[in-house]
Amino acid sequence: MSNVQLSIKNAVKEYRLGGLISGTTFRAVNEVSFELYEDKPEIFSIIGESGSGKTTLSRMILRLIKNDGGSIELNGEDLKKIRGRKREMAFMSRIQPIFQNPFETFNPLSRVDRYLIDTATHFFPGDRDPRERVSEALEAVGLTLEEIDKRYPHELSGGQLQRTSVARAIIPKPEILIADEPVSMIDASLRMSIVNLFSDLRDKLKTSIIYITHDLATAYYVSDRIAIMHRGIFVEQGNARAILEKPMHPYTNLLVNSALDPDPEARNFNYKPARFEGEEYTATGCLFASRCQEATEACFSQLPREFAISERIIRCHKFSGGDNGQSNN
Ligand SMILES: Nc1ncnc2c1ncn2[C@@H]1O[C@H](COP(=O)(O)OP(=O)(O)OP(=O)(O)O)[C@@H](O)[C@H]1O
Ligand code: SF4
Ligand SMILES: [Mg+2]
Repeated sequence: MSNVQLSIKNAVKEYRLGGLISGTTFRAVNEVSFELYEDKPEIFSIIGESGSGKTTLSRMILRLIKNDGGSIELNGEDLKKIRGRKREMAFMSRIQPIFQNPFETFNPLSRVDRYLIDTATHFFPGDRDPRERVSEALEAVGLTLEEIDKRYPHELSGGQLQRTSVARAIIPKPEILIADEPVSMIDASLRMSIVNLFSDLRDKLKTSIIYITHDLATAYYVSDRIAIMHRGIFVEQGNARAILEKPMHPYTNLLVNSALDPDPEARNFNYKPARFEGEEYTATGCLFASRCQEATEACFSQLPREFAISERIIRCHKFSGGDNGQSNN
């Protein structure tokens, strides 16, 4: 039996759309559930179009915002109940972010080596020489302290700086890294090297990585499991290759057809384009119904529940076996 490390159950984040009086609320993250396991480090990718709730979910897992419903637990501890500096520090050492733009991770006026040494001192005060910890972290990402010594962020390339930001994140020896679009701001030629680095960290340091991306190609290459997110909902999750090679949910099918097929003629252009984000988020029934060619009457009135089928979890009436779903208005 695997040890649950991160447990997310029906997590919800609500935001307001429109003004205070005439506005309405919508769920930027809507009943999302998944688990990561201590004895099975893996790369879990969350894939979705812009505005699907990926960053909102990652911010809840990082405790930057609170979930409005459901629960998020790390090693059995509810994130909402973490209080006091000691427990907060312990949380931060277990789960670390890697951001999209490495140039924003570092202060342009501060030396990069100094920042890393300060990070080591912060997490391990009074411990052995912090330069040793920094060197170890840099080595794990294929760099040396000499390469970044006395350098400012602008004196490193985008690829080097993103590696350095990964090194910063692994200094506290986290169990989980959350990387939100970590390769979208760096040259295409360097993307695979960063993505390969994630596989290395999983295998050598036993770190699980939540990789958030628009990019199906790198996700296909590196992920163990994936979740496809649409308007706050995980519509399909399971083994990465199984899902991307044989999508079952109509939205996954749309993403895969429009991204992976090298032959433009073979791409499926029959789907209607996405509606205004807020309009889709506040629709009744399945939030993909207005674009789905397979929609039936039930799709416009009831939100499908999660169903386990072919070792994946899907939210679509096609696979509901007669279950009517749930109300969402
Ligand atoms: N603080 C906020 N207040 C109100 N709405 C918000 C807030 N943060 C995010 N949203 C809305 O929630 C939805 C999901 O946003 P989010 O940034 O999580 O999407 P995303 O999948 O990360 O998109 P992208 O791929 O563009 O980064 C969007 O409609 C966004 O406008
Ligand atoms: S629930 Fe209906 S509208 Fe939604 S994806 Fe499935 S078939 Fe399409
Ligand atoms: Mg985002």
